[in-house]
Amino acid sequence: MAEQFAADWLSLREHADHLAREITDLTALSQYLPVDRAIHVLDLGSGTGSNLRYLAQRLPRANQRWVLLDHDAQLLEQARASVHPSDLNSLSIDVRYQQTDLADFAHYPQSVDLVTASALLDLVSPAWIDALVDYAKRHHAPVLVALSYDGRISFDPVLSDDPCVRDWVNQHQRGPKDMGSALGPDATEYAKQAFIKAGYTVQTSHADWQLSADQTALQRATMAGWHQAALAIAPDQAERLDHWLQQRIERLNQTTLTVGHSDLLALPCPD
Ligand SMILES: C[S@@+](CC[C@H](N)C(=O)[O-])C[C@H]1O[C@@H](n2cnc3c(N)ncnc32)[C@H](O)[C@@H]1O
Repeated sequence: MAEQFAADWLSLREHADHLAREITDLTALSQYLPVDRAIHVLDLGSGTGSNLRYLAQRLPRANQRWVLLDHDAQLLEQARASVHPSDLNSLSIDVRYQQTDLADFAHYPQSVDLVTASALLDLVSPAWIDALVDYAKRHHAPVLVALSYDGRISFDPVLSDDPCVRDWVNQHQRGPKDMGSALGPDATEYAKQAFIKAGYTVQTSHADWQLSADQTALQRATMAGWHQAALAIAPDQAERLDHWLQQRIERLNQTTLTVGHSDLLALPCPD
């Protein structure tokens, strides 16, 4: 059964996602993108278009042709309604929406200059990453994968059960997803090694959420998601997990939360 992501959740996290990404330096990308024509960008698992909204204005070329690829027709419909190329300042941008399963590489675009994804990599299997590396290499395309959850969670103030919950969440992250057994927190390291093996140069950087005490809605939704994930791994600990969530919610107005994410930029071997 395909995993579904609520548009509300994607919208709630978008601001924190964009802030977290600011640290990643995209300068090196410039020399890998064509200068004499529009660049073709493929956004994998695009959801409602958050990656485009962040990245389009930061790419070193103004003339861009995007394909937003996702299996969820409703999210693509929301993307279509919320991505207004004319809003993207001085860019000349064209967007196409493609409903395709990520595993279906045969239906990926044949013309691509940059492959990108955000908040996706921790959901995928090693086999999928290997296939992605093959696809990118065939097209000699750089790859920018942002915001992969990397297993780090830290609260201030702390509760004694935080480490336990984090471990169960991370176990759940490594569990079966619709594209096979997911790498979860190990995804960035796996991808890094796979790209290096294929001759790419790889840069990684932290892109952590730093949630302040006034970001209660995102903190609450994140903690509720972790509670469910931990419960799926340790159902016999339900009472303990309910107590943890209750305590966390009582302290929301005084809690800061850091959630570890990584960005990865893979650059192909020069010709
Ligand atoms: C966590 S969301 C990230 C969405 C978006 N990139 C963002 O940053 O807001 C993961 C996305 O991957 C898509 N997805 C998950 N599995 C997929 C699959 N097998 N084929 C196509 N899309 C998939 C989901 O529909 C969802 O839009």
